Amino acid sequence: MNLTKEENKMLEGKQGNAVKKSMEIITALGDIYGAKRLIDVTSVQIAGVSYANLGDAGLEFLAEMAKDGKTKVLTTLNPAGMDMENWEVLGIDKEFAEKQGKVIDAFKAMDVITTCTCTPYFIGNAPRFGEHIAWSESSAVAFGNSVLGAKTNREGGPSALASALTGKTAEYGLHLEENRQAKVIIDVNAVLLGVTDFGALGKVIGEKIKNKIPLIRGVKEASIEELKSFSASIATYGGTALYHIEGITPNRTEVPSEKIAVKQSEIDSAKAEMNDDSEVDLVSFGCPHASLREIRKIAELLEGKKVKKEVWVCVARPLKRIAEQMGYAKAIEDSGAKFACDTCMVVAPIKGRFKCLATDSAKSVYYARGKNNFKTVFKNLEDCVEIALRE
Ligand code: F3S
Repeated sequence: MNLTKEENKMLEGKQGNAVKKSMEIITALGDIYGAKRLIDVTSVQIAGVSYANLGDAGLEFLAEMAKDGKTKVLTTLNPAGMDMENWEVLGIDKEFAEKQGKVIDAFKAMDVITTCTCTPYFIGNAPRFGEHIAWSESSAVAFGNSVLGAKTNREGGPSALASALTGKTAEYGLHLEENRQAKVIIDVNAVLLGVTDFGALGKVIGEKIKNKIPLIRGVKEASIEELKSFSASIATYGGTALYHIEGITPNRTEVPSEKIAVKQSEIDSAKAEMNDDSEVDLVSFGCPHASLREIRKIAELLEGKKVKKEVWVCVARPLKRIAEQMGYAKAIEDSGAKFACDTCMVVAPIKGRFKCLATDSAKSVYYARGKNNFKTVFKNLEDCVEIALRE
């Protein structure tokens, strides 16, 4: 790989140990994937923040990097293992909380913005069309590439941190225009109504094409919330990091010859398959983290009522602050529902605490079953609120 003089100095350690280690990670990846050079990134989002995933080895790595590492570009974090302010209310134990606190302290020392969210685009980490970025959370990667039109590979936690500390990434994969072209057309012959239908569509397409890039036709319109849900779902079920939807997403693509149709019956069966016949004891919203519109809707539906089940509304903390300012948070919290900022029901260590999750997120269904062994009920937001209010 051709490195500039400046990059060589970084690799030699002239800018300190954390930059040196970061350059070693980035150049090693570049060599593996045949990159010819490094490019500048403007935004980073780091996953692997939960102490449950990092463990002590991960914490040690971060502490070492924090000795002399400082971010060169805007960098935010993916959800952590707990709400950093409200962890006791969500039933997190003290020992875990201490370790999670140390993880966040290490990131803070590196000047990472310690807002932990999988929707960085809602809190000001929102690159424009064509910018090269280094994001890690799979749903945000699919959203960033497809909806915003920025360019990122799906980074691991260490490689995203390395990009944050150097402002660089290796030019391969989805940073190159030739790798961003659709390989299969998906003709959708179905009526899509709301976030759950888009989640089901992501599951159906993801399972059919795995990580091929699709050009999806037949989708008439889609809200940000529906695209957020679709991005999470297609990334979860297919490993897809970039998709095109004709008339909706901004990237140009060649039109491939392979075609696959998606029928209404497939969307309906995907939805049915995500529903177990089981008694719900946890209702969760905000996977990916809820938008202001979703928070407002939940507040309207819960106003003046009392929930009968454990209810989590997972959001980025800055959006909760707006919800407080607008009275939405009061309506939600007065009903007995709880906010889960900085975290979510998938990354928080809640295995064994609940039996059946009701959610409007197809991604949540996947992890609730696979990671936490929960049964699942997959319904739209209004129905999930109904379930929360029922005895
Ligand atoms: Fe975000 Fe957690 Fe879902 S990280 S995408 S809310 S699984």
